[in-house]
Amino acid sequence: MTLNSLLPFPPRSLLFAPLEGMTDGHYRQVAMRLYPEWARFSTDFLRIPTNGKYSRNKYLEHLGAAIHQNPALLEKTIFQIITTEKAQTSLALETLAELGISHLDLNIGCPSRTVINHGGGCYLLGNLSALKNVLATIRNHWSGLFTVKMRIGIHDDSLFDETLKIIEGSGVNAITVHARTRDQLYKGRADWRFIKRAVDVVKIPVIGNGDIWTVEDVNNCLNETGCHSVMIGRGALKTPWLPQVIGSNANFQIRCLHLPEYYQALSSHCLAEGDDATKVLNRLKSLSRYVFDDFAHCDLLKTQLMRSNSLNVFFEILEKAIVTSGERIQALQ
Ligand SMILES: Cc1cc2nc3c(=O)[nH]c(=O)nc-3n(C[C@H](O)[C@H](O)[C@H](O)COP(=O)(O)O)c2cc1C
Repeated sequence: MTLNSLLPFPPRSLLFAPLEGMTDGHYRQVAMRLYPEWARFSTDFLRIPTNGKYSRNKYLEHLGAAIHQNPALLEKTIFQIITTEKAQTSLALETLAELGISHLDLNIGCPSRTVINHGGGCYLLGNLSALKNVLATIRNHWSGLFTVKMRIGIHDDSLFDETLKIIEGSGVNAITVHARTRDQLYKGRADWRFIKRAVDVVKIPVIGNGDIWTVEDVNNCLNETGCHSVMIGRGALKTPWLPQVIGSNANFQIRCLHLPEYYQALSSHCLAEGDDATKVLNRLKSLSRYVFDDFAHCDLLKTQLMRSNSLNVFFEILEKAIVTSGERIQALQ
């Protein structure tokens, strides 16, 4: 395989985005089992230290030990890092290669001030010479698949084309474009015209990202921009079975059918792995921020879920919400 050759997944694939605080090893293990149609699942970012190196266990924990032991799941995993000019990148890459990671992703879209102040994430969108150095270090020490996940700029798109060309010129295999600036954070709608612009500017595959929530959005983004594949974040937390229903209608009723299994599987897995009930409950609550916005009286429902003080109460509220929604659907039909 040459550096710029085809990606190991076909065009129009769906990739599960990195989501810090959500897509840890436990979450990905459950999602990979229940929803194997996703072409890839990304870890959230791991910041590479400036001094010294992390232990092998730190990387293993970030990846998920069970995923490491399962070659098919390992193959489906994108390992994402945030790094800087000063960080010990080559040491980190050595360990990642030893762990059998085949696909490395560099995050240059993280908007966090702390990360930017350390010279990582979106900082690199505003300092292209630092970006070149970081890309060169990675390409010189990493022979596997290498992608970059970016935003369109810090304040605006003035450096967008130049940044894309630098990334392409550094031997990166594909670029994921989250079609927002750093200043936009997650506000407003992602502007897919920038994904199309990236497709026009570079020859390597572009992966579209930002505000893809439904089957219709998937098809629109692919068709309007000509991007190779799409990566989905918040929409994937909300509808992780989305790739199963491509070509059919991912409607509200189907969401209601899937939700109990989704929550139960995550809860049982984490309890079996030794997490205590409070930790599991907090995880389910945190996931719920992304899941219920199309339910009737969703603010009230989310408040009730957030206030639930046990897993039993959480599941009772969930079940009641689904039954009520079913009745509402029947009444409307
Ligand atoms: C809670 C949360 C955590 C995120 N963590 C990461 C991360 O670790 N790495 C990354 O590249 N992007 C991260 N993102 C950005 C998403 O991967 C994605 O680019 C963004 O949410 C836009 O896509 P979406 O509209 O499909 O959610 C995060 C987003 C959210 C909401």
